[in-house]
Amino acid sequence: MDRLTVIKDAAIAIDLERIVWVGPEADLPPIDDPAPNEIDALGRTVVPGFVDSHTHFVFGGYRDEEFLWRAEGVPYMEIHERGGGIATSVNATRAASVDELMALAGNRLARMLELGVTTVEGKSGYGLDLETELRQLAVMSRLSSLQPVDIVPTYLGAHSIPMEFKGDPSGYVDYMIATVLPRVHEQSVARFCDIFCEKGVFELEESRRYLEAAAALGFKLKLHADELYRLGGAGLAAETGAISADHLLKADPVDLVKMANAGVVATCLPLTAFVLREPYPDVKAMMTAGCAVALASDLNPGSCYSQSIPLMFAIAVLYMGMSAEAALTALTLNGAAALDLAGDRGSLEPGKLADALILDAPSYRHLAYHTGMNIVDTVIKRGKVVSIRS
Ligand code: NIG
Ligand code: FE
Repeated sequence: MDRLTVIKDAAIAIDLERIVWVGPEADLPPIDDPAPNEIDALGRTVVPGFVDSHTHFVFGGYRDEEFLWRAEGVPYMEIHERGGGIATSVNATRAASVDELMALAGNRLARMLELGVTTVEGKSGYGLDLETELRQLAVMSRLSSLQPVDIVPTYLGAHSIPMEFKGDPSGYVDYMIATVLPRVHEQSVARFCDIFCEKGVFELEESRRYLEAAAALGFKLKLHADELYRLGGAGLAAETGAISADHLLKADPVDLVKMANAGVVATCLPLTAFVLREPYPDVKAMMTAGCAVALASDLNPGSCYSQSIPLMFAIAVLYMGMSAEAALTALTLNGAAALDLAGDRGSLEPGKLADALILDAPSYRHLAYHTGMNIVDTVIKRGKVVSIRS
């Protein structure tokens, strides 16, 4: 993760939406096109488009009051247990129309694009009933064709126990397996299935049952694992062959080794730790275990109402001990790996999608150094300039 290939005075040749050649400009072969469209980066830095592999960007309502209660010291899970937290967003999302959700989520995507995000994962999980979960997923699929950011949809029905199944997590898991998962599968509206595997939400055995049912239908798996309590979600991710396990603030180092052996990407969400004032993920332990580490925003209405790539980069380098190189890899190639898309994007290589950013800086190091500032000038998505600042 620390080794980047840096090419000075480089050129990138793009045919339609894919990269066909990368190297020093002096070696660029003649282009067989009478009028190639040229973008001059003016000596600045070009990096791959960012892949934000964990967000919950489709939701109704806000939870600013809870944010301030937490600022005064009320724990996140206490608000959840009192019937607030995710349930507040579920009520607001159930009440929101497709058009309302489209407008809210579309705005969030536009902000992400300016920050350099060219691929984003988005989760359902604020409906918890069949109709609203499908509505959230439908919003993602409609937005996919209306704006440039590629959206990778995830079904997260197992985000919380809805009031209809209060005290009966097993009954809710049965309902998802029998009623919701088959419909989501039939409509092909989600690539991944995810679960909030956490003490007092979905415990290990319920999580395993749900994940195995999802895998049997052909979904790829993700887990919110070991965020607030060491339950063993990281080990379960390894056992179920998940593509990524995310959060991992309390993960057992032994489980991290199991993840590394099973090829599960360890996704760190430092903005959530920042907002919840939890210790940052132990990225050294993840790397020592041999895990590929990704960084993602976790944008959501509760634990982290932020998609700030610049703040995340600063935290990763200043407080988590990541090098600028590792942080950049974590937000590009490893973010793509966390979506099982590393063969297709996440680095500037021939054959991959031409998703690239021109930074208003002489080096990628400024992503951390120009602290908390957006230094993305131009965003190129699938070969087209889709956002330009200067
Ligand atoms: O990834 N922890 C569970 N899910 C989200 C938070 C959701 C919420 O608070 O609305 C997370 O942090
Ligand atoms: Fe999350």
